[in-house]
Amino acid sequence: MTTGIEYDDFLDLEYEPRDDDLVCEFTIDPADGMTMEAAASRVASESSNGTWAALAVDEDELTDLGATAYMIGNDDRISVAYPAALFEAGSMAQILSCIAGNIMGMKAVDSIRLEDCYWPETVVDGFPGPQFGTSVASEKLDAGDRPVLATVPKPKVGLSTDAHVQIAEDAWRGGVDLLKDDENLTDQPFNPFEERVSRSLAKAEELTEETGEKKDYLVNVTAETEEMIRRAEFVHEHGGGFVMVDVVTCGWSAVQTLREHCEDMDLAIHAHRAMHAAFDRMDHHGVSMRVIAQVARLCGVDHIHTGTAGLGKLANEDTPGINAWLKSDLYDCTDVLPVASGGLHPGVTDALIDALGTDIAIQAGGGIHGHPDGTEAGARALRQSVEATMQDVPLAEYAEDHAELATALEKWGAETPR
Ligand code: 3PG
Repeated sequence: MTTGIEYDDFLDLEYEPRDDDLVCEFTIDPADGMTMEAAASRVASESSNGTWAALAVDEDELTDLGATAYMIGNDDRISVAYPAALFEAGSMAQILSCIAGNIMGMKAVDSIRLEDCYWPETVVDGFPGPQFGTSVASEKLDAGDRPVLATVPKPKVGLSTDAHVQIAEDAWRGGVDLLKDDENLTDQPFNPFEERVSRSLAKAEELTEETGEKKDYLVNVTAETEEMIRRAEFVHEHGGGFVMVDVVTCGWSAVQTLREHCEDMDLAIHAHRAMHAAFDRMDHHGVSMRVIAQVARLCGVDHIHTGTAGLGKLANEDTPGINAWLKSDLYDCTDVLPVASGGLHPGVTDALIDALGTDIAIQAGGGIHGHPDGTEAGARALRQSVEATMQDVPLAEYAEDHAELATALEKWGAETPR
């Protein structure tokens, strides 16, 4: 029998989502002359199996994969339920081409933002999820119950390999667990990848021996996918336990491939989110950081940057809510360790832990290397600020007999930089 498919078929305010529907919440601003209902049905249509023209379809030839806009709130929020069969198992690219694809540029809406997703087990099961998640703190490092501490040498690019390795040594000796490459340091002539990685990892081994605490390195392997895999193998061959990848600029399919290879090599993945704000900064358009973090978890990263709850240099965002989602139960999917990074320094550690808890990684670049007495003192100051907070001692009081912290507090106080 032939049937017609038109926009109205994608709106049903009586619909109750099934357990295996993928439900997406959008904020939309309908174009002039378009009602919320009309705009919502177009969103559901274009993101599943509809188009602008009414279609005459032979039902026998059609698997019905139409999405349903089933809720229209007073706050410009709509909810759309997608049948799980619409999605190819384990393909984040395909999922995003549906739920964050053509609809982002439709004329029917002046703006549209994908705010949140409720992932059914059938979809989640198609993905590996993280290997380690929050367990890196004790399984791969000796951080125990305190936040994992990391630092990125600054300037972020331009340092020679000699200078990079010296900063690493000083920072590890001062008390951080992890050295981290910055998002735009990959394999440039001033600090070539192989030399940097082999020398830094050798130094990590020395410092592990010297301090009795496991030291490791978040090596930025970001590159074209096959090259990225080669770089991950190099890290593994040289004894590293982590790789870092710029997940947004690399693309989710590359991240998925990296995740598969990291499983064989027991490497944890640290996700830097450079470029995320191109999608999530506007509060009325794009894809929220919450959804980006969800996607990253499914694709299998072990850490991801989620902001600093307004305490650093980046725009404020819902860091506590995103972090709670990353650590929440999601069927058999492992959790993710959230990373607070961007403009942090010892003077805000107490407020940061108060806002985000201790199950986080704290990364400070400028907040360590900008210490008046240098990197080692800066790392000590950060570690002291964490000790103070873990012991519930005010930073100023702890600083009375911790000189490095005192100097950091004198320099930065509790300022939140811009
Ligand atoms: C990052 O990777 O998040 C930034 O390079 C952080 O650097 P900062 O601690 O100096 O702000």
